[in-house]
Amino acid sequence: MTDLLQPKAIGQARVRRDGLDKVSGKARYANEAPIANPAYCHLVQADIARGQVTTIDFTDAEAMPGVLAVLTHGNGERLSSTKDKELAVLQTGDIAFRGQIVGVVIAESPEAARQAAELVHVEYSQEPHDVSLSADRDDLYKPEKVNPSFDTDTSTGDVDAAMNSAEATVTATYTTAMYHNNPMEPHATTALWSDGDLIVWDSTQGVHAVRSTLAKVFGLHKEQVRVVCPYVGGGFGSKGMPHAHVVAAAMAARALPGRPVKLALTRQQMFSLVGYRTPTIQRVRLAADRAGRLSAIALDVVEQTSRIKEFAEQTAVATRMMYAAPNRATSHRLAALDVPVPSWMRAPGECPGMFGPEVAMDELAEHLGIDPVELRIRNEPDRDPETGNPFSSRNLVACLRDGAERFGWADRDPRPGVRRDGDWLVGTGVASSVYPTYRMPQSEATIRFENGRYVAEIGAADLGTGTWTTLPQIAADALGVPLDQVDVRIGDTEYPIASVAGGSSGTSTWGSAIVEAANAFRDKYGSDPEDGDEAQGQVPEYQAKKRYALYAFGAQFAEVRVHADTGEIRVPRMLGVFAAGRIVNPRTARSQLIGGMTMGMSMALYENSVLDPRTGHVVNHDFAEYHIATCADAANVEAYWVDEHDPHVNPMGSKGIGEIGIVGTAAAIANAAHHATGVRVRDLPVTLDKVL
Ligand code: MOS
Repeated sequence: MTDLLQPKAIGQARVRRDGLDKVSGKARYANEAPIANPAYCHLVQADIARGQVTTIDFTDAEAMPGVLAVLTHGNGERLSSTKDKELAVLQTGDIAFRGQIVGVVIAESPEAARQAAELVHVEYSQEPHDVSLSADRDDLYKPEKVNPSFDTDTSTGDVDAAMNSAEATVTATYTTAMYHNNPMEPHATTALWSDGDLIVWDSTQGVHAVRSTLAKVFGLHKEQVRVVCPYVGGGFGSKGMPHAHVVAAAMAARALPGRPVKLALTRQQMFSLVGYRTPTIQRVRLAADRAGRLSAIALDVVEQTSRIKEFAEQTAVATRMMYAAPNRATSHRLAALDVPVPSWMRAPGECPGMFGPEVAMDELAEHLGIDPVELRIRNEPDRDPETGNPFSSRNLVACLRDGAERFGWADRDPRPGVRRDGDWLVGTGVASSVYPTYRMPQSEATIRFENGRYVAEIGAADLGTGTWTTLPQIAADALGVPLDQVDVRIGDTEYPIASVAGGSSGTSTWGSAIVEAANAFRDKYGSDPEDGDEAQGQVPEYQAKKRYALYAFGAQFAEVRVHADTGEIRVPRMLGVFAAGRIVNPRTARSQLIGGMTMGMSMALYENSVLDPRTGHVVNHDFAEYHIATCADAANVEAYWVDEHDPHVNPMGSKGIGEIGIVGTAAAIANAAHHATGVRVRDLPVTLDKVL
């Protein structure tokens, strides 16, 4: 048990402290680093998916006015560590995926660099490539662990036997597409070397992670690298760890001693260089009695990774703890393809992994004639089925009931394909949502009294989530002082080490460190500090995770309308109710939740990276063809939460909310589309050709 803070500032719907600077253009992003006389670089990318570079002719490029240098694997510097093959930029001529960096052009202007990059002539010896994922490949392998360190397979009881003796079963295969992270601000890095030390302004979810990675790659002490990033225009996981372009920018800057170099990726380049969500193939098996009580639940997943670096999405982990069923099994198998390296994208694991099972639950509900809300309630476990630990708090049922009430679920006619409003077929659907409550092991904060104000310093990130606004709320309550006397400083490795803004763990982790620092400060100086007084704190060990299952839950409801003639699909209404502990700032929290739900709608209906098997190229690599839900698509998205008092998670009583909003949305929409049309779509996205 943790003593929860007395909430005074916590719980207030505060506006973003950085909001005005962001919308008025005062906030400086990575590509706007305040430095004089920068050079600019542009990347040259492989246009084969597998083979070797044989020759690179850059005489034309170098001859262009304004071009300063062209780096290739022939003349680029040797890195100290090439262990991470994704980051081993220009170290060999081997090509492992289309779009890989094969050259860097540095010039006086971004336009010159880009034009010169077109004039770099690369020849290859090409090898046959393979980018096609399927569940019947004979080279599928079992990774040792799945992201970040979950067991690859689990098995309890006997799923086959339960399937054979069950009164009702569902066996079906579902697929989710390849998705690319598309934050509004493309990835950008500005780099400058001076006296052998490196400073980078990088658009990142974690300045300290970028620092330690660059130090390793370039063979420097951490103290020789400074990373600055006060503002981020979104990341969704793609800025959670540095990708190859960050190394390329630092290499380019080293080639021009004393001169800063800027590298901004184009939207199109982001489709090969900054990660993506692997496509998944999910075989789901459910067994139940006539009353809908599950006797078995199983999820077997096939997904892809790259040949040069493994990323194993933990797609099946949520199935391990979601519902009570005595017989359970999960597995992950990977195909290592000639594709870019997959990585984190908002709720890796839970987001794709709740699609198949939550549609399967809908299929089971229909089969048994049980309301899908009720079916989920009947399978509510009283402990974590996997570990046997109690949940620190679990309010899925409250979310389902409250959501059903708010959405107007009670009078729902369960029959699919029978409601019409003019030319539109109308349906509603539901799905559950879950996300673990993580706290990272390493983060520190300093609190100082300065010019009559309290200042908390921590190298945390605000990737649009609200950190600038919520950390002062936590610090104010921990110090027992008014919120308007508290400032924070984040986004710079000059401030104490902080974990990456990932796994929805930021507020929980950094907030815990700030509370420790505040406690130390009050112990030392009481409530009447003097200028210059300061104290440190670090995040305590997360003891609760040994004794409790720690998760946030949610229930997602959607209304879908499908045009009877054209198959056009609209989602006029989405409603989510979440149980995520105490909400630190209702205003920024609501924004996180409806943002997640909107991204889930985007996944359900629009997003789909189309990988051409002939070239290994994502052909729809821009916003004209990679469709993302717009404001007009997200007509009415509502997020609510139930009061939840959880003394086990952290002193704020808060659970992470950055990712849970996207979990379950696609299933709720697919279920609603089935209810509207009677057509069961098991392969995302749900598009008109599939429902007609
Ligand atoms: Mo999130 S995908 O853990 O940045």
